[in-house]
Amino acid sequence: MGGTNGFKAITIVAGLGGLLFGYDTGVISGALLYIRNSFQLSSSLQGLVVAVTLAGAAIGAAIIGPIADRFGRRIVLLAIALVFVGGALLCASAWSFEILVVGRFILGLAIGVASMLTPLYLSEIADASRRGGIVTLNQLFITLGLFLSFLVDFALAYFGQGSGQGGSLTWRLMLGAAAVPGALLFAGMLVLPESPRWLMGRGKIDAAEAALRRLRPGTDPAREFEALRQDISKTERADGGWAAVFSARVRIPLVVGVGLAIFQQITGINTVIYFAPTVFTDSGIATATGAILVTAGIGLVNVIFTIVAVRLLDKVGRRNILLVGLAGMFVSLLILGACFAVGTTTHPELAWGIILFIAIYVAFFAIGLGPVFWLLISEIFPLAIRARAMSVATIMNWVFNMLVSFTFLDLNQAIGRGNTFYLYAALTLISILFTWYLVPETMGRSLEEIEAGQPRVIDAA
Ligand code: BGC
Repeated sequence: MGGTNGFKAITIVAGLGGLLFGYDTGVISGALLYIRNSFQLSSSLQGLVVAVTLAGAAIGAAIIGPIADRFGRRIVLLAIALVFVGGALLCASAWSFEILVVGRFILGLAIGVASMLTPLYLSEIADASRRGGIVTLNQLFITLGLFLSFLVDFALAYFGQGSGQGGSLTWRLMLGAAAVPGALLFAGMLVLPESPRWLMGRGKIDAAEAALRRLRPGTDPAREFEALRQDISKTERADGGWAAVFSARVRIPLVVGVGLAIFQQITGINTVIYFAPTVFTDSGIATATGAILVTAGIGLVNVIFTIVAVRLLDKVGRRNILLVGLAGMFVSLLILGACFAVGTTTHPELAWGIILFIAIYVAFFAIGLGPVFWLLISEIFPLAIRARAMSVATIMNWVFNMLVSFTFLDLNQAIGRGNTFYLYAALTLISILFTWYLVPETMGRSLEEIEAGQPRVIDAA
């Protein structure tokens, strides 16, 4: 029991990376309302504050793979915790718009790194039987971070400090608050061990054993250690380099990882996460404050159904739950498209349908595509190239996040909101076919067994 609790504490600390990802991406939508007053920003400069973080995240994910393979997971998480703290403080104290943009870019770098390293580290410290739930804690923390940011937005909107000095203080508090989980992540990672799999892969057998003992307090992990040692001795250890990531031998896992990365974004989730208040007010649903409150409710639905996913992934399997989640998203998107096509001007009662089906859509995302993408990319790649291959998938996820977020409002204008949602529905249908034909089941298999099921990565080299 003590062992279980000790391990829970470990996963909570590591999960703070996910919380920072969620909070720092979510908080800006509300903060922007105040920032634009403080600096008198045009809409394109407002777009810049948002875009610069997503671009930073893509770059962070791009540079971190080889560094995490070379220096280890823990040291990078420690460094990145400091960047989170520094970035939050810089944003909170930004004395000019330029400094704010630099601060948001630096935070973006940290978000990009955390977005791939947190699930990677969690998957490498977990045992096979509980890995799905443990890695999905990352997604749970992302949704908690988003929810927290919506709550902060709501509280500040409700108390109406929107203008003048108060407005400036408001956004500074919103952005600066992220320094707290950043500092907690740093303190926690000082105590947490390095990934035993990474240590073993580097031939540091004794250190790997010590790390595993610390990860399984109160239990004797001798058998697990022996199994790990045997398994890793059979898998490819050498750093495969970039050539190995793009070699024909790992083509299928790479196509699956990158495909899911793109589908996770082009099926529209962040149009809801980032633009829900806009969509709700456009539909005549409520006042700005009311719309933000409904958004916080949607954030709560996201958290609750992610908890359902944590419970189901190691019982029902990744593939099944992903297919169910996608099917639910598809149907909700079709219904939303129809509601928007008819319009709330002639049928104001449809506004309730819109809220309901956005909630249902988010619930199905939360049990399937949300967690399963991050989980699968931490499982399907061989150890020798795991961090680099995860980087590639993560970069694509951020690039497509940026593309979808920045085309959403223009697409609404160009083809109408109904057709925009029909488009996301069509893309969801394609992702169902993709999953059906290509996505493997990884439940209950050790990372080494999954790797053994694939061709080896590197030739004799
Ligand atoms: C996605 C994010 C999204 C979040 C919503 C994550 O898995 O990568 O882009 O905002 O889920 O819960």
